[in-house]
Amino acid sequence: MRTRRSALAAIAGAASLALTLTACGQSGEGGSKEEKGSGKGGTIGIAMPTKSSERWIADGNNVVKNLQAKGYKTKLVFGEDDPDQQVSQIENLITQGVKALIVAAIDNKSLNNVLQQAKDADIPVIAYDRLILGTPNVDYYASFDNEKVGELQANYIVDKLGLKSGKGPFNIELFAGSNDDNNTKYFFNGAMTVLKPYIADKKLVVRSGQTQLNQVTTLRWDGATAQRRMDDILTKSYKSEKVDAVLSPYDGISIGILSALKSDNYGSANKPLPVVTGQDAELASVKSIIAGDQTQTVYKDLRELAKVAANMVDAVLNDKKPEVNDTKTYDNGSKVVPAYLLEPVSVDKTNYEKVLVGGGFYTAGQLK
Ligand code: GAL
Repeated sequence: MRTRRSALAAIAGAASLALTLTACGQSGEGGSKEEKGSGKGGTIGIAMPTKSSERWIADGNNVVKNLQAKGYKTKLVFGEDDPDQQVSQIENLITQGVKALIVAAIDNKSLNNVLQQAKDADIPVIAYDRLILGTPNVDYYASFDNEKVGELQANYIVDKLGLKSGKGPFNIELFAGSNDDNNTKYFFNGAMTVLKPYIADKKLVVRSGQTQLNQVTTLRWDGATAQRRMDDILTKSYKSEKVDAVLSPYDGISIGILSALKSDNYGSANKPLPVVTGQDAELASVKSIIAGDQTQTVYKDLRELAKVAANMVDAVLNDKKPEVNDTKTYDNGSKVVPAYLLEPVSVDKTNYEKVLVGGGFYTAGQLK
């Protein structure tokens, strides 16, 4: 069954999948393919990880909007960064008879049992932004090129410090995301591919000595956790030295890092702030970039991601094969999940107007 399901998902067996759905479908909705095929008017369950970051609120709203425009009803839930809560929310959605699930996991390995329940009820599952691991019961994956996110952050540091023209050595510290988020290793590995040669040449020096992923992760992407770690690093490793760059994987973490730096008098005339990267182009961080505090962020057009996920659901429920552009990269330990990956864009003070305002992501007024 497992093999059959994988084959269906991978080769497009959207048609067969929908037939399976029809055959074992929920009661009271008619049995014929025509009647049931589109799932129009049906409800799609959307499980987002947290409201503590504005991006997931926007993601939730965007997905709802796209699905409603296609004639679906929606049920949107947020898991407050608590994996157990997310599991019971998804259980509830299944009980309520949703036709498909879109899930941005909190803990990528906590969903195996509940996704088995989804499978048993023939509910297709789209992993949203974060891949769900260790289960065959995830049909498609909608995300960005996550490795490229890390490359963009690291290349920004390389360019800004002038490493390619031989400048240095510089001091750098490294931060990564939550260890239970599959994206974390892609971001970090993408960045380290770029940074490692400079670290090996001692053009970049990590004075804390913390260079391994398991030494630099930040549980649940929490800014306060990152702030404490940065405080600690500054106290222990930068008594007489200055830090020149900080690889930060996400804006919420960058904010914590910047607070620690400012408490240590960075940002003053003789102690400029280091280059600090980020991700998500969250409003507070774009304002910080404009003010000259945070240096860079990686913009991901969440409107496009929501569209991709909604299209995937619509295709699966209409016996069509969802559009994918990557069938190799995202092995979840059980199967390679067919993915559609969008392109991330590096944003700093020089291009935020063009990219973010010009692209309609923010209005000029919001950034004042
Ligand atoms: C990741 C996501 C990032 C960022 C982070 C913290 O999974 O890809 O864009 O939002 O979570 O929320």
